[in-house]
Amino acid sequence: MENSKSELLKQIKEEVVNLKESPLYKERIQNKVFPVIGEGSHDAKIMFVGEAPGKNEALTGKPFCGASGRILTQMIEFIGKKREDVYITNLVKDRPTDNRDPLPEEIKIYAPFLDRQIDIIQPKVIATLGRYSMAYILEKFGLLSELKSISKIHGKVFDAECSYGKVKIIPLYHPAVALYQNSLKSQMFEDFSLIKNYE
Ligand code: URA
Repeated sequence: MENSKSELLKQIKEEVVNLKESPLYKERIQNKVFPVIGEGSHDAKIMFVGEAPGKNEALTGKPFCGASGRILTQMIEFIGKKREDVYITNLVKDRPTDNRDPLPEEIKIYAPFLDRQIDIIQPKVIATLGRYSMAYILEKFGLLSELKSISKIHGKVFDAECSYGKVKIIPLYHPAVALYQNSLKSQMFEDFSLIKNYE
C-alpha cells in the first residue's frame, strides 16, 4: 500500500509541475520557483491544510518553511509530534504573486489535487490553517452551514464522512496570526492540543 501511496502522490506532483493551464504556472516559470505539493508521512493520521505557498516555500518547494512554518513546527512539537509524523500541504500549490489571497479560479484548479491527497493519505483529522482552507474543506464535506468567521469556529471539531471513513475537521487559525497577534498565541496552542484527542 505504501508504494502505491507514494506512486499516487508522485503522480499528483507530476501533474502539478506540468499544470500549464494554471494562471500561476507562467509566473512560477518566470520567477524560477517551485510548486509546493506537500510533505510528511504518507500514513499520517493528521493532515494540515494551509492556504498557498509563500516566498520561502516557493523558493524551496517545501510547505511552511518560513516564519509561520516555525510557529507550525512549534505547535506540532507541543502536541508531542514531529513534522515527519503528520502531512502538511496547501489548498493552492503555487504561490500567488506578492502573497495575495488566492482567487476563486486558482482554488478551483488546485483543490482537486488536495481532494486526491486526502483520499490517498486517509487522515483521521484534517486541521485547516486559515480561512480559505477552512471554507473549502467545510464545503467539501457538506458542512457549509457551519461556516462562520474563523474567530467563531477556530478549535471546534466537526464530524465528517470521507470516501474511506470518518474524519474530524478542525479549523485552526493560520500560524502567521501568532506573528502579528501575540494575544491569540496561547489560544492557538490550546486549539492545537485538541488534535491529540482524535488521531
Ligand atoms: N502559508 C501557507 O498557508 N502555506 C505555506 O506553505 C506557507 C505559508
